[in-house]
Amino acid sequence: MPPERIIIDTDPGQDDAVAILLALASPELEVLGITTVAGNVPLALTAKNARKVCELAGRPDIPVFAGAEAPLLRPLITAEYVHGQTGLDGPDLPEPVMPLDPRHSVDFLIETLRAEPAGSITLCTLGPLTNIALAFARAPEIVGRVKRIIAMGGGAFEGGNTTPVAEFNILVDPHAAQRVFSSGAPVTLLPLDVTHKCLTRKVRVDRFRALGTRVGDATALLLDYQERFDEAKYGQDGGPLHDPTVIAWLLRPELFSGRDVNLEVETGSELTMGQTVIDWWGVTDRPRNVHVIRDVDDEGFFALLLERIARL
Ligand code: BDR
Ligand code: CA
Repeated sequence: MPPERIIIDTDPGQDDAVAILLALASPELEVLGITTVAGNVPLALTAKNARKVCELAGRPDIPVFAGAEAPLLRPLITAEYVHGQTGLDGPDLPEPVMPLDPRHSVDFLIETLRAEPAGSITLCTLGPLTNIALAFARAPEIVGRVKRIIAMGGGAFEGGNTTPVAEFNILVDPHAAQRVFSSGAPVTLLPLDVTHKCLTRKVRVDRFRALGTRVGDATALLLDYQERFDEAKYGQDGGPLHDPTVIAWLLRPELFSGRDVNLEVETGSELTMGQTVIDWWGVTDRPRNVHVIRDVDDEGFFALLLERIARL
């Protein structure tokens, strides 16, 4: 089988970084480019961090683009309290040498989806959906050319992680999320219901360190850093590992299970802004627009991640 051709849209972030490493380590996937967006930290840092990660993986050939600096309608919310001032606190990664591609993320998305055969490109989204919504608004004909969108965001039964009901990626740009989820493009969502089952327990993080490689060490330090905040918040060993579930779903969908449901994003109420209203039980007749994953074989997920990180 030829590799699945993907574009990763991301706001690195330690867990974004591990997701990028997982993708770059996997021959089943061909990464056409990495489009960055403002999210965990401002755009200048996410665009730099993505290049640090490519260089860590020994892949300075991957084009990295800078995109939207702010959400469609709301002021940017960032999460330095989770990810540190750089967004990638933890390992001491060198300043990147590879240049940023001069094209805007949105231009790259539009150009690529227009140029490549319809149904051949998968979008893996690990941050706020601003770039994707802008591309769809500017070039509506590309929506039907997307093979599928695999997104980390939202929550069904798990509620939110940034407000009681809203998950960070969706809260940052709820209007973009609503537009993308209702665009007609096929969407698979990896929400908090999944990622809260993928805990970076000490025994798991130690296995990356025990690889004895530069990338294994860096992965352990990334996971160590990001889990601090959530360990304190949830009072447990390990924090949720979010974004790598998107790539893992592409590689091993049999590790996951979910169902086709209607999903609408709250954009009206300040109290519940960014909530993903998921009709799990089919109590409305609204269209089933998103495949929402609810369960994961977390041991299988971490075994896959370890096996792939060991290759880098
Ligand atoms: C999501 O928010 C970010 O902090 C993480 O990188 C992940 O994409 C989890 O809510
Ligand atoms: Ca992210």
